[in-house]
Amino acid sequence: MTRAVIAGSGSEIPPTRVSNAMLARVMDTSDEWIRERSGVEARHYVERGTGTSDLGVVAARRAIDHAGITPADIDLVVFATMTPDHFFPGAGALLQAKLGLREVPCFDIRQQCVGFLYGLQLADAQIRAGLARTVLLVGAEIHTGFMPWTATNWEYMLGRGDVPPTPEEFAWNTRFRHLTVLFGDAGAAVVVRATEEPRRGVVDSLLHTSGAEYDKLYVPGTGFKHRPYTDPEQFKRGDHIPVMDGRAVFKMATTSMIAASQEVLTRNEVRIDELSLVLMHQANKRINEYCQKALGIPDSKVLHNIERYGNTTAATIPLLWDEAARAGRVTAGDLVLLVAFGAGMNWGATLVRV
Ligand code: COA
Repeated sequence: MTRAVIAGSGSEIPPTRVSNAMLARVMDTSDEWIRERSGVEARHYVERGTGTSDLGVVAARRAIDHAGITPADIDLVVFATMTPDHFFPGAGALLQAKLGLREVPCFDIRQQCVGFLYGLQLADAQIRAGLARTVLLVGAEIHTGFMPWTATNWEYMLGRGDVPPTPEEFAWNTRFRHLTVLFGDAGAAVVVRATEEPRRGVVDSLLHTSGAEYDKLYVPGTGFKHRPYTDPEQFKRGDHIPVMDGRAVFKMATTSMIAASQEVLTRNEVRIDELSLVLMHQANKRINEYCQKALGIPDSKVLHNIERYGNTTAATIPLLWDEAARAGRVTAGDLVLLVAFGAGMNWGATLVRV
């Protein structure tokens, strides 16, 4: 039977590291609040002009090298992002051109923080169906486009300018602080390959969506429900910036991630002690600690990197995977549980045998 294995991974972290204290220059927040409530200590931001496809390309090149293949081997691209370079086309086509791939099909998928797990299920299904043998799966995001502060505020925050925000700008930036402090930019990619080797590859993917609660985390403006789809009034209201009911999302995330993990483990008759590693979406360290405790997973089996990168949405799980693989924490025969929750609402849990 043909199965899909993760054969290599790569990632790209943009150069500009921004600490919590730097954010506090342009809004009413503090290092202490952000660390305590979310676990985030810093995040990285791209410089103006970099697109999500650019982060994806660098990550993909590293994943291709790591897998020991060439770009010509790739016969399918799946690009997961909620922050594409353009409204259309999606980032997959741009990545295909920049990498010089053959004219292979490129899917763009937008399941936000669960994009990687949805993409992995798609890659697995394509491989099992015999439609593809080598899939490039990318998760990348540039959240800086959501940030509400002005160009002058940016310079001040980064320590490159000496004009502080006006009281009005400071208040405007503070309005979005519960959201903006959590996110960072990053790209990560994996190469998923067909194998006929027994007992390897994606064991099972469990995916769920519940659109009923979509308005707990969404972008109210700049969509085609509006005519025109974007206008200055929407920007004035701040409708281009996501709305997030943090407490509701926190509750849904913990409930769903615990339930999905238990469901995928039960239906595959896998016990926690048989897992080598658990990689959880990095939205809030407290969410993950709660899930870890409820599931009874020891610290030694859980990796976090939210303190360094914040929430990088579709990139979190492949980024963790890449760090784990390069640190020798992902080795042949290991059974790894991947679990995520995000806007949609979407959530899922995937079991992978390395
Ligand atoms: N800095 C300082 N204070 C802040 C702040 C910030 N960045 N953001 C919010 N606050 C304040 C609030 O204004 C509020 O003040 P008040 O009590 O005077 O009204 C107080 O902190 C508590 O706010 P609350 O929203 O209740 O905090 P919380 O403990 O729920 O933490 C989140 C907020 C956003 C960190 C938390 O709800 C969360 O992580 N939720 C899930 C978000 C998520 O996972 N999103 C992505 C899904 S993929």
